[in-house]
Amino acid sequence: MEIRDGVEVIPDVEDFFVGWTKRPTQEVFKNILKNSDVVVAAVDETGTVVGFATALTDHALAAYISLIEVLPEHQGKGIGKAMTDRIIERLGNIYMIDTVCDENLVGFYEKFGMKRGIAMMKRNY
Ligand SMILES: CC(C)(COP(=O)(O)OP(=O)(O)OC[C@H]1O[C@@H](n2cnc3c(N)ncnc32)[C@H](O)[C@@H]1OP(=O)(O)O)[C@@H](O)C(=O)NCCC(=O)NCCS
Repeated sequence: MEIRDGVEVIPDVEDFFVGWTKRPTQEVFKNILKNSDVVVAAVDETGTVVGFATALTDHALAAYISLIEVLPEHQGKGIGKAMTDRIIERLGNIYMIDTVCDENLVGFYEKFGMKRGIAMMKRNY
């Protein structure tokens, strides 16, 4: 398994966004991976992308981890941690790195020194 910066071949969106009521389209997925400021991917020995993570940053003060996902069959092997470590490393010495997550992921993000806070969200379902 290798953690890479960027994604060379856009994966099939049908493989990701597991459990989402409405997946983004392939076009939207392509734009996410093209336009995010930081993109990392976990690629297996066959060259298949088995995980990805994205972040947005102003490169000055504030950054936001927007998406992270590891394919279900590859979860629990340290891939999510390796990708998050790489994202944080690439965001550099910046004042704030935020994300929004469900309750069951608080423990995961705490491993990176992140603390529980209050977020306001607007979603266009
Ligand atoms: C969340 C996710 C990215 C974690 O990736 P992963 O590869 O399964 O996690 P890792 O194997 O790297 O786990 C790293 C550490 O976090 C812990 N961990 C993983 N998921 C956790 C959770 N939900 N709560 C608490 N700890 C968790 C692991 O036990 C491990 O701990 P250790 O280092 O002490 O052994 C993955 O489960 C996933 O893709 N989930 C579905 C999509 C999702 O929820 N994304 C986040 C949106 S905010």
